[in-house]
Amino acid sequence: MGDPLADCSARLQEQERQIRTLSAEIESLKNPRALEPSPQLASLKEENAKLKYRLNTLKRSLQADPAPGSRAMLNINQRLQQVFEDAIRAACPQVADPPLAVTPGRDPKFGDYQCNSAMALGQMLKARGEKVTPREIAQKILENLPENELIEKTEIAGPGFINIHIRKPFVSKLLTNLLLNGVQPPPLPVRKKVIVDFSSPNIAKEMHVGHLRSTIIGDSMCRLFEFLGYEVVRLNHVGDWGTQFGMLIAHLQDKFPDYVTSSPPIGDLQAFYKESKKRFDEEEDFKKRAYRCVVRLQSKEPEIIKAWTLICDVSRAEFQRVYDCLQVKLIERGESFYQEMMKAVVEELKQKGVLELDEGRHIVFVPGQSIPLTVVKSDGGFTYDTSDLAAIHQRIFQERADIIIYVTDSGQSTHFQLVFAAARMLGWYDPLTTRVEHAGFGVVLGEDKKKFKTRSGDTVRLMDLLDEGLKRSMDKLKDKERDKVLTPEELTQAQRSVAYGCIKYADLSHNRINDYVFSFDKMLDDRGNTAAYLLYALTRIRSISRLASLDGGALAAAAASTPILLDHDKEWKLGKCILRFPEVLNKILEDLFLHGLCDYLYELATTFTEFYDSCYCVEKDRQTGEVVKVNMWRMLLCEATATVMAKGFDILGITPVSRM
Ligand code: ARG
Repeated sequence: MGDPLADCSARLQEQERQIRTLSAEIESLKNPRALEPSPQLASLKEENAKLKYRLNTLKRSLQADPAPGSRAMLNINQRLQQVFEDAIRAACPQVADPPLAVTPGRDPKFGDYQCNSAMALGQMLKARGEKVTPREIAQKILENLPENELIEKTEIAGPGFINIHIRKPFVSKLLTNLLLNGVQPPPLPVRKKVIVDFSSPNIAKEMHVGHLRSTIIGDSMCRLFEFLGYEVVRLNHVGDWGTQFGMLIAHLQDKFPDYVTSSPPIGDLQAFYKESKKRFDEEEDFKKRAYRCVVRLQSKEPEIIKAWTLICDVSRAEFQRVYDCLQVKLIERGESFYQEMMKAVVEELKQKGVLELDEGRHIVFVPGQSIPLTVVKSDGGFTYDTSDLAAIHQRIFQERADIIIYVTDSGQSTHFQLVFAAARMLGWYDPLTTRVEHAGFGVVLGEDKKKFKTRSGDTVRLMDLLDEGLKRSMDKLKDKERDKVLTPEELTQAQRSVAYGCIKYADLSHNRINDYVFSFDKMLDDRGNTAAYLLYALTRIRSISRLASLDGGALAAAAASTPILLDHDKEWKLGKCILRFPEVLNKILEDLFLHGLCDYLYELATTFTEFYDSCYCVEKDRQTGEVVKVNMWRMLLCEATATVMAKGFDILGITPVSRM
């Protein structure tokens, strides 16, 4: 794994070359559309836009260094990158865009961090006809290393690796800062606005496991951005507008004729939907009336709007139960919100001359994409494409968002690529300054690796799933006889925290691109990389300070006066691991892969266990069990671990408990 900036630059260059070749090929053919523009080109362009944006932000984030004496946690890796960039530029001024690769070392024998740039530089110089070995380059880099507070010593190993040993007193000071200030993010040079479009179920339809994934992943992304100081708008783009409302309203009129005056008791909207669909398919008159209802809805007839609102309210209450359980906050701004704007967008497309007529539909082709967007159907209605065009327009021009992220299953990736490409074609945004991204994810599978279903083959209702999680988590706690130790309140708290924490963590800890197998047994296992394990780990760490009778005040006082010693190998390993937190978050900011945080927290927990197994924190008398000695600097290491872990949980949306 290399340095993101270097990776990004290299991929960008390679892609631009490919795009040039492909574009030239297409240019040379007179009518590109007739020849089906290559989907390869399209996805390359999409990927390319993302890379360009990332390269830009990476470059900028490298410059945004917390001021000296800042309360923010220092990103050690980033700081080392800067130091080495200066050294590399001075050592090889002839290379305009030198590769920068500083990574945490795998084996402490070879230093704490490693710089692997000399090998790549060797290749580059060789290509320019300069004869110099990577070891010589490494030597030259070291000669040009600027003065810095971080590096203790360096050595060249093998073909030209540079092993970097960092200064213990400096790391110790960073840990003290962390304890005194808490986990502070680096200050943002300018406050940026992020829109995360997530969850987004459809009215009158079941909110399914795909929406659960979107809810969990989207919420965690929001939490990350919020922690880092961004202005975050959490949008629930619910499907609340469309032809299905015609039949729902027509059916409502028949079943509850006085719905305008007294609210109809629709308990089961699913069943209601099925009934109306059946009638729609079977009764010709009903179908006609349903269509008329759509038109009447779109022209905002009060009586029809009333019916529509009633139906939305029933769904909304149902969705809210899920959000309340998971403690997820969202602003509902469904498709209907964009109704007027859709007209304006269609008008703009017409004005710009990109609208084409195709068998009564109005479509738009975008460069590099073989399928068009359908913006007006032959019956005059708008589509999912139209509402997303209007939404992106609104988000860019009215919200003035700097970053827009869509969290849905990967099945919708073509749809979003089309929408983004259209927005760029129309000049709505420049990918170099506005980041627009579809964060797709795989499907949820059952333990049989087939589509997630109930035993009887129905879709699983989310509330049932969450309730089952609660039940299973309680069973687990009772198995361990925790009900005998905890107060009833503590027990329910632990139950909820484990159940919902595990469901979230199981989702977040897998690479979101992959399909993921939903298994209560696996997620509730308290061994391995699960929320149950991490929740236990955190309560255990916290219980160490209880053992030593230290409260927050005593720890804070100790932090201010006790230097944190890092002489033991395991202390040193833990100290460095704790301080990698900002590096981990920074990476997620770039790739939106939250499993990086889960992996890190798991590593932190296991590193802590190694430390705790070999370093006494609290020494007790063997006979009496009385505490005879508290090794305060180690208590501080425990506290620093707990602080970072708790912050990590917070970003993942997991609620820690003090006892479980
Ligand atoms: N309602 C859609 C669905 O259930 C998801 C909407 C995602 N957001 C968007 N802007 N298209 O598949």
